[in-house]
Amino acid sequence: MRSEDSDFVLLQEIDSITQGVRAKIDEQPRVGLVLGSGLGAVADAIESPIRIPTEELNGWPRSTVEGHAGKLVFGKLEGQSVCVVQGRVHFYEGHSMSRLAVPVRVLQRLGADVLIVTNAAGGVNQNFEPGDVMLITDHINFPGMAGHSPLLGPNLDQLGPRFPDMSQAYDRELQEIAREVAAALGIELREGVYFCLAGPTFETPAELRFLQANGADAVGMSTAPEVTVARHGGMRVLGFSGISNITSLNGDRAASHEEVLETGSTIAPKLVRLIKGVIARL
Ligand code: HPA
Repeated sequence: MRSEDSDFVLLQEIDSITQGVRAKIDEQPRVGLVLGSGLGAVADAIESPIRIPTEELNGWPRSTVEGHAGKLVFGKLEGQSVCVVQGRVHFYEGHSMSRLAVPVRVLQRLGADVLIVTNAAGGVNQNFEPGDVMLITDHINFPGMAGHSPLLGPNLDQLGPRFPDMSQAYDRELQEIAREVAAALGIELREGVYFCLAGPTFETPAELRFLQANGADAVGMSTAPEVTVARHGGMRVLGFSGISNITSLNGDRAASHEEVLETGSTIAPKLVRLIKGVIARL
């Protein structure tokens, strides 16, 4: 139920959206995947896919950005039941943090206990190169720190605690599996801290230097809210950033969404192999 003067999504609405999904599909996914800009191709690797356009789901946040087709794709990947959220939504599109976490809540209610998140990100770490894949070891949720947590509002006690622990937001065991899979596949895996900003502007050079001084290896406009909600609901999380561009700390190079989508197409095949390798070992 949407309340009159806020957009805190309550359990009743989450369960009604989940019912809408169940009416179309029998699968109970074990793993949920949320795909970032230009990385939607990961869904093409799914066997016997069943697609639900998310516009058919009342209350599902609408994606308005190029590169984010709004679909839920159910099927098998390496023998595991998965559900891919193709077309994530962002805070800058005008959704409340609570609403943009709806896809993760629905995955939880469908029974998924592992969440794999991917995003396109700018490399703040100047040793990175465009096309790299970074294993997210931790994040800084800047909008959350500034009062825009997706957990703001009434706590959904049935799903998780009022004050959730975030000491290991990214599951250590899953990280270790990802490292081993990358090594076995000969994929060089970078590692680091993902800094979430609200966007939609790319950063000024001064902002980038601020991020670098505060421990960021990559910067983007998503992921941290979804991971926060996933942890609140007790899911184990694995995250990868596709490094689409290296940010310019002195303003010599401009950033563009076209570049993000372009590099995404070279990163996607690597991510597919990595994610398949990890899922095969769950
Ligand atoms: N900054 C913020 N978000 C991004 C970037 C960037 O440079 N590249 C891809 N997403």
